[in-house]
Amino acid sequence: VPSSNWEDLARENKIQPHIDPIFGAYKSAQFIDAVCAWSPQLTHQVILKTDLREEAFGTDEILFSLPTSGGELHGIDISPTVVHSALQRGDQYPARFIVADVRKLPYPDSFFDVVLSNSTLDHFEDRESFILSLREIRRVLKPNGRLILTVNNKHNLNFRLLLMLESFLKLKEYPVQFFSVRDVRLACAEVGLAIEHCDTIIHIVSPLNSVALFFRTILPKKIADSFASACLFFATLLGKSRWTKIFTGWFLAFSCVPEQKEVA
Ligand SMILES: C[S@@+](CC[C@H](N)C(=O)[O-])C[C@H]1O[C@@H](n2cnc3c(N)ncnc32)[C@H](O)[C@@H]1O
Repeated sequence: VPSSNWEDLARENKIQPHIDPIFGAYKSAQFIDAVCAWSPQLTHQVILKTDLREEAFGTDEILFSLPTSGGELHGIDISPTVVHSALQRGDQYPARFIVADVRKLPYPDSFFDVVLSNSTLDHFEDRESFILSLREIRRVLKPNGRLILTVNNKHNLNFRLLLMLESFLKLKEYPVQFFSVRDVRLACAEVGLAIEHCDTIIHIVSPLNSVALFFRTILPKKIADSFASACLFFATLLGKSRWTKIFTGWFLAFSCVPEQKEVA
């Protein structure tokens, strides 16, 4: 996808956020919960996030709410507008945000303790770019570092069908790929990453986010808030059911570590 398309999206995003504020806070909390569970040591860590859309425009931002101190917060995005907006929003944080492509990271080998990549790598046209960016992340991770990765969940049929409909109606603004646990496991093995933990997170039923965003434009704030909160109550219930959560999660979340080479 040419970076200019992401620029167009970023300019639209400045006018209309991509997520309802109440859903956004839930999305952020779910991701941060996974990070804290899988990477509990967050102080004095050098951390990279692989896109900054949430930090630029949404209540689903991660980096400003992460319980971290004494380390370095880095972030990249291919869109200059996204990077500028994230820098403006985060001007009280010691964050270092730059324009870069996740497939060619401008950092030395073994630089980061933690890489956070939530739904950046599932927006390429082809598998090759997915592998390229995973390989780059593997390169910049310290040997004892950790990648927390989320990608769109292939088992969530509702979400997939809606995307197919959007594609058919030519409403889709950018490529969206879906992954199974096996797809990610194979890709990780190819680049030398081992998956330590996996879960399904963020159980907002599609297309309730679009409905909630529309309600925000026509209804008083109180009513729009009540609608979003009711949806969220339902999402939280779905997330608790261990039998069905694989079918309702928006994302598959993974905690991956560099495979240690055998010493002969
Ligand atoms: C669809 S948004 C998704 C992400 C967001 N993390 C979320 O969950 O809502 C994709 C973001 O990744 C950025 N992006 C797209 N391709 C990229 C690349 N190759 N390298 C870095 N950022 C990229 C876009 O500018 C945009 O901000």
